[in-house]
Amino acid sequence: MKRLTDFFKKLITFCTNHFSIFRVNVVRVYRRLFKDQHQLTSKTYTDRYPLLFGEASKALMGAERKLKLLSFGCSTGEECFSLRKYFPHARIVGADINSLNLAIAKRKNTDPGISFIFSIPENLLKDAPYDAIFCLSVLCRWEDTKDLQNCEAIYPFSKFSKTAKDLAAMVRKGGLLVVYNSNFRFEDTTAFTDFEIVDAPLSDSGFVHKFDARNIRLLTEHTNCIYRKIA
Ligand SMILES: C[S@@+](CC[C@H](N)C(=O)[O-])C[C@H]1O[C@@H](n2cnc3c(N)ncnc32)[C@H](O)[C@@H]1O
Repeated sequence: MKRLTDFFKKLITFCTNHFSIFRVNVVRVYRRLFKDQHQLTSKTYTDRYPLLFGEASKALMGAERKLKLLSFGCSTGEECFSLRKYFPHARIVGADINSLNLAIAKRKNTDPGISFIFSIPENLLKDAPYDAIFCLSVLCRWEDTKDLQNCEAIYPFSKFSKTAKDLAAMVRKGGLLVVYNSNFRFEDTTAFTDFEIVDAPLSDSGFVHKFDARNIRLLTEHTNCIYRKIA
């Protein structure tokens, strides 16, 4: 049964990624099948967030030990390969819930300091704590939430805050949690009490629309995306 489900997941992912005519028709089925997933699409590319990567590397400058980074929602690996340029000596772990993406990432990888894991708590915890966790274009449902005034039915705050809390617990004290293009603000979660905002000259926290903890669309600007663990 599991093999059959995996096969259908892979088939749907492939069709959704490659044939635009399939996209609209499979979204509803896809949503049900992937209820434990955050962002459903796998769009990624090389050096997608140069300012963010640069600011994160500045914020970790001076750390004495070899850094350990997690790219949560690494898709086909480009984020991990790009991070290498900014963190030449770090150990980089890429995690994704889509096994087809992971297979592609593993096939492309030639860097012994980069590894890829399936995103389940046991695997993520094996390498914790991390000096930085990058969670970029993952904690959202884009474009499904784009025109909504209330996103509860599609992507509730509780789903975001549970994962944000789990990830926050895996950040080393003094380390970073980087959240970009999310549907919610990390500041609205209870986990934020252990963090402070890193004052980085970035102008936004992504194009994905933000909602408050009651799932109501926010019209105010939000620019924070790098958070340092202080407790
Ligand atoms: C739009 S891609 C973002 C890729 C990359 N972070 C970037 O910004 O270029 C979103 C990725 O998040 C992954 N994802 C969704 N839910 C996840 C989860 N619970 N654990 C790990 N990855 C997840 C998806 O499979 C997909 O590959």
